[in-house]
Amino acid sequence: MTGLFTPIKLGSCDLPNRIVMAPMTRCRIGADGVPVELNATYYAQRTTAGLIISEACAISAQGVGYANTPGIYNEAQVEGWRNVTHRVHNKGGVIFLQLWHVGRISHPSLQPDGNLPVAPSAIRPTGEAFTYDGLLPFVTPRALEAEEIAGIVADYRNAAKRALDAGFDGVEIHAANGYLIDQFLRSSTNHREDAYGGSIENRLRFLSEVVSTVCEACGPTRVGVRLSPQNSFNDISDDDPQTLFDRIIDCLNPFGLAYVHIVEGVIHSPDKIAPPFNYGKLRVRYQGRYMANNGYDKKRAEAALASGAADLISFGRPFIANPDLPDRFAGGVALAEADQSTFYTGDENGYTNYP
Ligand code: PHB
Repeated sequence: MTGLFTPIKLGSCDLPNRIVMAPMTRCRIGADGVPVELNATYYAQRTTAGLIISEACAISAQGVGYANTPGIYNEAQVEGWRNVTHRVHNKGGVIFLQLWHVGRISHPSLQPDGNLPVAPSAIRPTGEAFTYDGLLPFVTPRALEAEEIAGIVADYRNAAKRALDAGFDGVEIHAANGYLIDQFLRSSTNHREDAYGGSIENRLRFLSEVVSTVCEACGPTRVGVRLSPQNSFNDISDDDPQTLFDRIIDCLNPFGLAYVHIVEGVIHSPDKIAPPFNYGKLRVRYQGRYMANNGYDKKRAEAALASGAADLISFGRPFIANPDLPDRFAGGVALAEADQSTFYTGDENGYTNYP
């Protein structure tokens, strides 16, 4: 029977287990989004995961939305990441980089020249941005001109190439959690009247162009895509998520990707009511590897793998306080609880000092 320790081939990589470390923003990056030694230590401590997916990395200066988060758009950042991938590979790990553009989930103080953040439409999210001056209210973003979109697609392509140059085994396109690609996908944030808005086919166009160019740059077997059909985090919603996400799966199938990564339910506020959604429908519709995420423990993960509901399970929080999570699962030992007060604080405490 398939379980967490059944090996699996994922695109070009042979993984010894199906336990994936989920991407997690930890806000410990060095100046100008350049990874430092502390980040290499953190990832190298977690290499017994079958696959590590890095924290989200901005594809351009415009793609930045939080203080102290990394980039993958210049040579200094590539050099910093090279140290991380080197340390991970030395311990036998496999690591993908997550490609991120936050769209409207930013603030002028984080943008080049203090510009407005950009989005498919000029709709202000409720909530606050995490800036170098603390939490500041979101602003109304500037709607992208149709002619600008090709430039952002090119930024994804260049960032993906840089990720491979930095030694990553592949990339994950972040199309989830209310950031730029998700803003194009969903009816609440995309009110465009051109070829990138309106019908589902048009709202899918930006994702499709990004996936296509990143697959050209890296080869499809080194590309994953992350989606979050029910998630309302970052003030996002859709009129008909089931139809939308079924169509997204149809759009992704022909690419022959390494995997899709599905965030189930709502993040950051698990008590929020999510719209109804049938993940089983997505699972059978998708023809490649299916990774499930959000709130799994060992028991639920084993059940999902045994029933065929997923091929891999990614774990976020459990990896924070349990760097050797697969060994703890294997040994049946109780897991340590992560200290929420140090999730996003800037030093080794709560980051690399968990035993
Ligand atoms: C966060 O910083 O809270 C965050 C970042 C990226 C995500 C989700 C949450 O995809």
